[in-house]
Amino acid sequence: MNKIVVGNWKMNPPSKKEAEFLLSKISQSLKNIKGLNVVICPPFPYLFLKSKSKKITIGAQNVSIKTEGSWTGEVSVSMLKSFSLTHVILGHSERRSQGEENEEINEKLINVLKAKLSPILCIGEKERDRDGNYLSFIEDQIKKCFLNVPKSDVKKVIIAYEPVWAIGKDSKREATKEEFIETKIFIKKIISDLYDLKTAHDVKIIYGGSVNKDNANLFVKEGQADGLLVGRDSLNYKNFEQIIRSIN
Ligand code: PGA
Repeated sequence: MNKIVVGNWKMNPPSKKEAEFLLSKISQSLKNIKGLNVVICPPFPYLFLKSKSKKITIGAQNVSIKTEGSWTGEVSVSMLKSFSLTHVILGHSERRSQGEENEEINEKLINVLKAKLSPILCIGEKERDRDGNYLSFIEDQIKKCFLNVPKSDVKKVIIAYEPVWAIGKDSKREATKEEFIETKIFIKKIISDLYDLKTAHDVKIIYGGSVNKDNANLFVKEGQADGLLVGRDSLNYKNFEQIIRSIN
C-alpha cells in the first residue's frame, strides 16, 4: 500500500499566481518519486489547480454539511467532485476551534463517502494530560465521527492523528514516535470495538503536527504511519521535497 503525504496549505499562498508557482515547483521536485501518493489541499479558490505529475492529486480542506441550495458561502461535495478532487480534509483542529463539532463532521464524513471521495478525518487532543484523559477525548471524537458509517466504508477513511498541541509555529514540539504508536494502537482498538479486527487493521492512520524533514521518517518507518499530514512545510517546496525523499 502506497504511503500518502498530504500538504495542507491552509489559507496560503496569498495569490493565484503564487499557488500555481508552488504547485508546479512541487510537481517538478517529485518527478522521479515512486510508490507514494501526494495530495495537495489548497484553499477553495485554487481548486482548479492541476498537477503535471500523476503522483499528485488535489484535495479540499473542508466541505459544507449541506448538499445543495441557499447556503451563502458554502461549498458542496458535488462541486468538489466536479473538480476531480480525490480527498477532503475533515475536522481539522483549526475548524473545530471555530466551532465545528463532531456531529457536524460525522455528517460531512458520510456525505464525502457517498460521493466516493476519500475523507481525511483529523482527530487529536488539545492536551496530553498525565491522567490519560486525552484517550477518552480521542475515543469520543472517533465514536461520534463514525456514527452510522457502514463497515465497508471505514477502510476508505484516512484518520489523521494530529495532537493539537503539536500543530503550528507556536507548538513546542511534535509528538514522539512512542506517543504516535500508542495513539495508533488506541485508535485501532476503538475501531475494532466499533466494527471488527479486520476493519481496524485496514484503516489508515497518518500523523500530522510539525512534520519536517528530520522527523518524517521517524513516524513513517519507525512509527509505521501510513503517511503524513504536513502544514507549514508543504508551503516550502524544498522542505516538502526533503520530507518526501526522506520517507521514500
Ligand atoms: P503544521 O500543521 O505542519 O504546520 O504543524 C499541520 C496541520 O495543521 O495539519
